[in-house]
Amino acid sequence: MARLIVYYAHPGHKYSHVNRYMAQAASQVDGISFVDLYREYPRFDINVDAEQRRLLEHDVLLFQFPLFWYSTPSILKEWQDIVLEHGFAYGTDGDKLEGKRMMLAVTAAGPEEAYTSGGFQHYPLRDFLRPLEQTARLCGMLFSPPYALYSALKAPSAGEVEPHVTGYRRLLEAVRDDRYDWDAAERSEVHTYDSLPIREEG
Ligand SMILES: Cc1cc2nc3c(=O)[nH]c(=O)nc-3n(C[C@H](O)[C@H](O)[C@H](O)COP(=O)(O)O)c2cc1C
Repeated sequence: MARLIVYYAHPGHKYSHVNRYMAQAASQVDGISFVDLYREYPRFDINVDAEQRRLLEHDVLLFQFPLFWYSTPSILKEWQDIVLEHGFAYGTDGDKLEGKRMMLAVTAAGPEEAYTSGGFQHYPLRDFLRPLEQTARLCGMLFSPPYALYSALKAPSAGEVEPHVTGYRRLLEAVRDDRYDWDAAERSEVHTYDSLPIREEG
């Protein structure tokens, strides 16, 4: 069993069409930890000691968020800025995260075809997530390709919320149960619910 912690960041949780259901599903998965950052720290008064203790107690760290301005919602940046301290996460004696894994679950309004070099967004979605990828690497962590939902605002009418949320739950359970195929996951830049590298039981 892997010790998995999900950090959820969405300042507009109650208006969400996708992330709120993902968060609800994640909070109900047995044997994993779930943290709603905006709920826990509405004034951004993040408890660094408590967060570092949480990190020490887990093997896999998953950030779930809607893409905001090609990046994370701001509390997740604040969390990185103050929790991933020198001497803890990197630098002299900063080896506490070594060997752990980082994953992302991201929703974006833009369609998949927009996130291409010739498309409206000019770059693949994975490129906008490189700062997190390199942060993981700097901290000695292994970064795994994100679980993504494109065209997220159209997902309710397109019937995509349910399969995406179901895929998310399967992903979390697979990570927890050591059925997530980390090597196979590397073969795609981004994963969607129909391309999850999960080994089924039995
Ligand atoms: C402040 C803000 C910035 C956003 N920036 C982006 C963006 O850079 N790229 C994108 O594809 N969607 C962007 N969006 C759209 C959100 O990603 C989208 O509304 C969200 O993923 C939908 O999920 P939800 O219904 O769970 O909130 C932005 C939305 C807001 C409110």
